Amino acid sequence: MKEVALVTSNMHKLKEFRHGLAPLGYDVVHLPVDCDEIQADTLEEVVDRCLDDVVEMGHSNIILDDSGLFIDRLNGFPGVYSSYVFSTLGNEGILKLMDGSDDRRARFECCIGCQMDDVGRLVVKGSSPGRIIGEARGRLGFGYDPIFVPDGSERTFAEMGLDEKNALSHRGNAMRLFVNALSSKMKVD
Ligand code: IMP
Repeated sequence: MKEVALVTSNMHKLKEFRHGLAPLGYDVVHLPVDCDEIQADTLEEVVDRCLDDVVEMGHSNIILDDSGLFIDRLNGFPGVYSSYVFSTLGNEGILKLMDGSDDRRARFECCIGCQMDDVGRLVVKGSSPGRIIGEARGRLGFGYDPIFVPDGSERTFAEMGLDEKNALSHRGNAMRLFVNALSSKMKVD
C-alpha cells in the first residue's frame, strides 16, 4: 500500500478519503497541520497555496482538499467562504437567506490537490449539483449536508450513508478524477 498524508482537521473527511482511496491501494494517514486561510477567488488557488505552505513546512506525499457550497440565488455565496459562513451563520442562517426564494439551485465543489515525490503536483475539481431544501433533514455527515439534496436523489447528504454520499458527492467525484489523473500520470512518467 502507498501512504499518503491527508492535511485536514476534519475527521469526517479523513473517513471519506480512506473510504474512497482504499480500494485503489492508498493508505491515507492523518497530517494535523494548518495552512494559512488565504483570501482567494477560487478553490484551486486556495489548494495550490496550501500545498506550497505544507511543503515549506517540510512535508511530502501530501494530499488536501478545499470545498465549498455555491448557491445560485446568492451569486455563488458562501463559495470560498463556506467554512467561515458555516461557523458563523450555520445552516439556519443559510435557510433564512433563502427564505421565500423559488430558485433553490446550488452545487458543492471540491478541489483536491497533492504533492507527491513520484508524480509531482496534481489539482482536480469535482462538483455535485443539487438544491437547498426548506428545512434541515438528517443526522449523518457534517456541515451543510442536512440542507442539500443532490440531483438524482430525494434525500439530503445527511440522510445518506457514506457509500451513497460518495457516489454523488463533490468529494467523491473529485476523488475519482484525482485517482484517474494520478494513474495516467504514473503511466506517462
Ligand atoms: P472545507 O474548507 O473543505 O473544509 O469546507 C468548507 C466548508 O464547507 C466547511 O464548513 C464544511 O462544513 C463545508 N463542507 C465541505 N464539504 C462538505 C460536505 O461534504 N458536506 C457538507 N458540508 C461540506
